[in-house]
Amino acid sequence: MKKKTIGITLLIIAIGIVGGFALWKYVLSDTASAPSATESSTSSSAVTTTEDSGFAEQTFTTVEVAKHNTADDCWTVIDSDVYDITDYVGSHPGGSEILRACGIDGTSLFMERTTEDGETVGSGTSHSSNAQRQLQSMQIGILVD
Ligand code: HEM
Repeated sequence: MKKKTIGITLLIIAIGIVGGFALWKYVLSDTASAPSATESSTSSSAVTTTEDSGFAEQTFTTVEVAKHNTADDCWTVIDSDVYDITDYVGSHPGGSEILRACGIDGTSLFMERTTEDGETVGSGTSHSSNAQRQLQSMQIGILVD
């Protein structure tokens, strides 16, 4: 009778150890895999969100663009894309000429570097590919009218 009790006790302890070990392994694998799964899904959805809420979805009218016509708040339109060039005007290699594009469609100014009378300013050629690259980083949306 006493032997039987000892046997049952040992059996319960053995089950406890095996069960505890199994539970421990389960918890470990859960905590190890859960954050990485969450992390990867979070980062991929963050990228998607950034792309989804990017400038391409923002639309502006000519009237809205026209409100941003000063050196301190300068938007321009080039090929139907809207750019906020406020932070760039101070470092423009062509000086204050760039301010003439504020609040209006600056496509021909940017492409041909012309004066108000249609005279060429500087080279009179289109801006370099470097200038066009810089411009891309300033796009805030597209024109809808
Ligand atoms: C809208 C954004 C603009 C950007 C990002 C920009 C950028 C630049 C850059 C990088 C240069 C150095 C030369 C080159 O890379 O082509 C430059 C030069 C110059 N830019 Fe602009 N520009 C802008 C608008 C304008 C506008 C509206 C005018 C008005 C006509 C203008 C007139 C000039 C002139 C006269 C030069 C001197 C070099 C030359 O005449 O060839 N730019 N600009």
